[in-house]
Amino acid sequence: YGPDGHRIVCDLAYRYLSDEARTEVDRLVTLDPEFGHFRDICSWADEVRGTTHEFTRTWHYINQDRNDPQVDAEDCAEDGCITEAISLHAGVFLDRARSDDERLEALKFLAHWLGDIHQPMHVSIEGDRGGNDIDVLWRGERHTNLHRVWDSEIILDYMGEQWGWAPEATRWSYFADELASEIPLNGVEVITPLDPIAWAQESHDIVRSRDFAYYWARAGQMIAPGDAYYERGLRISRQELKQGGVRLAGLLNDLVAERQLAA
Ligand code: ADE
Ligand code: ZN
Ligand code: ZN
Repeated sequence: YGPDGHRIVCDLAYRYLSDEARTEVDRLVTLDPEFGHFRDICSWADEVRGTTHEFTRTWHYINQDRNDPQVDAEDCAEDGCITEAISLHAGVFLDRARSDDERLEALKFLAHWLGDIHQPMHVSIEGDRGGNDIDVLWRGERHTNLHRVWDSEIILDYMGEQWGWAPEATRWSYFADELASEIPLNGVEVITPLDPIAWAQESHDIVRSRDFAYYWARAGQMIAPGDAYYERGLRISRQELKQGGVRLAGLLNDLVAERQLAA
């Protein structure tokens, strides 16, 4: 996701943290004067992937062969992928031998990965860089690409429609409130074992669905999705943002409880 998507996933997650997990998250986040709140740490992984943490470049996604709909561990790229990164950073966050600095970094990554794995194009089909190489004329209005449509354009359009009167930098909070108000009602999974492959499979099934308007587009092509695509994409995006937030909370609650048991 772009900054707003990550902020929303983390803001939702924060609402569902146990008292113990919230205390621990707050403690770690405020160790770094750059960050005031959990939701502020959730795009950091995008800022460092081109600078201090180049080795994490491939950790934001996992791609599939075009003829392989089943996500499994062997689909991970040689340099790593999002499902492995989730397990790695969950392990660091849990580890009583790690320093606070190491565990804060693991938390920054984990919070980011739980967002990205719920953006369908991050569990994509090899060959077009998750839709980055498919040009899009979006709703007849602006040029972008298919990856950015799902990272940002759908979310930005909706927030502009609903809360256009509010400063852009504050609109995410209205969207987060609206999504939070729906969470107990519409079937997002609240009890959530750590199963990154299953989460990735859900995203990939969305990417493969026939009305996704991805499967017949290829790298180098230009497509022009209209309002119907936007409406469908918005329904999916709302569901995925909620699911990402709830699962991030469930994961952190489990990890903090497990860590305290080991004390
Ligand atoms: N680069 C290559 N594949 C990608 C994907 N699925 N998402 C984001 N960036 C990518
Ligand atoms: Zn992305
Ligand atoms: Zn990312």
